[in-house]
Amino acid sequence: MPFAPPDSFLVVRGTEIAELIDGNRDACVEAVRDAYLTHARGDSSLPHSAFLRLPGRERERVIALPAYLGGRFDVSGVKWIASWPENVRHGLARASAVLVLNDTGTGFPYACLESSVISATRTAASAVLGAQELIGARHAERAGFIGTGLIADHIRRFLLELGWKIGGFRLFDVDEKAAGRFARSLRESDMPDVEVAGDAREVFDSCDLVVLATVAGTPHLDDPAILRHAPTVLHVSLRDLDPSVIAVAQNVTDDVDHVMRERTSLHLTEQRLGHRGFVDGTLADVMEGRLARDPGRAAVFSPFGLGVLDLAVGKWVYDRTIERGGGSPVHGFFPVA
Ligand SMILES: NC(=O)c1ccc[n+]([C@@H]2O[C@H](COP(=O)([O-])OP(=O)(O)OC[C@H]3O[C@@H](n4cnc5c(N)ncnc54)[C@H](O)[C@@H]3O)[C@@H](O)[C@H]2O)c1
Repeated sequence: MPFAPPDSFLVVRGTEIAELIDGNRDACVEAVRDAYLTHARGDSSLPHSAFLRLPGRERERVIALPAYLGGRFDVSGVKWIASWPENVRHGLARASAVLVLNDTGTGFPYACLESSVISATRTAASAVLGAQELIGARHAERAGFIGTGLIADHIRRFLLELGWKIGGFRLFDVDEKAAGRFARSLRESDMPDVEVAGDAREVFDSCDLVVLATVAGTPHLDDPAILRHAPTVLHVSLRDLDPSVIAVAQNVTDDVDHVMRERTSLHLTEQRLGHRGFVDGTLADVMEGRLARDPGRAAVFSPFGLGVLDLAVGKWVYDRTIERGGGSPVHGFFPVA
């Protein structure tokens, strides 16, 4: 970009972004893969996320995830994402977000993208990439979902669009209606053997791939025996597994320093054991052959969710939007010096 303010500031709506992503989920997974590898090479900058909480309100939070991502992306920016769990009771989404992209030549922000869709997409893409790398194929005998809200639904869409071969599904949600809706979505896509389970334990016992996507704030699964059949676990919600369960698994994360915060299960395990030796490595280690799946143990992938992933998918969305002449440009947004 030239050394002048951008001609216009581009605003991109969530519906437009959702349309772009549909049918292009393979490209999103590739963007996330490249972001992980670029980050692992050190060609990124990733300060810790800042958690804003309101006085006396434990559950609500707004998180700022600033980042720079080099490689083929060369973009900086910040995701600003709010989580208001009570919204769901009023028919509103729990999470709402924007992503601002900054030009690395001038520092100027040049786009603001609705980001609940980008955030859910990059989260699902990283989970499905983790599953593929840890299993070594796009295949599961039976997949289980514990927590069947928005993120679970995005993971479902990735599994379907990427052609995963899955022999059956077991679902559990503390909200029976949510589990029922998820079961209907799977059946409407002609997925086989879909059943709602009585509890989380039943899901673990019957599935070789388990997705945890709840909003649990503290561990509720504390029996290491749930992992005795060595399943692959996508611990997207980060706080479901007790340290005694984490301790028996092969643990893979996205960034060890980042995940050891905010009372995640890995953070609690570090506090209990007094070290981080129970973490086997990162997904980049798996992808680059430095870490092999241990077939004798469960593999638990706990992705903290890095701001570089939002930038990777956000930049992909921005570039496609420009190619299509989409978005809403705001001309003269910046004053001329
Ligand atoms: N790691 C990451 O990168 C990342 C990114 C985005 C979201 N998340 C996390 O993913 C989780 C899910 O987000 P969402 O947008 O789908 O939320 P959501 O509110 O749409 O869905 C969560 C579902 O979990 C259910 N649930 C709550 N506690 C449960 C329990 N103990 N057992 C079974 N079900 C339970 C709820 O009834 C709800 O249906 C959140 O914890 C969020 O913080 C992680």
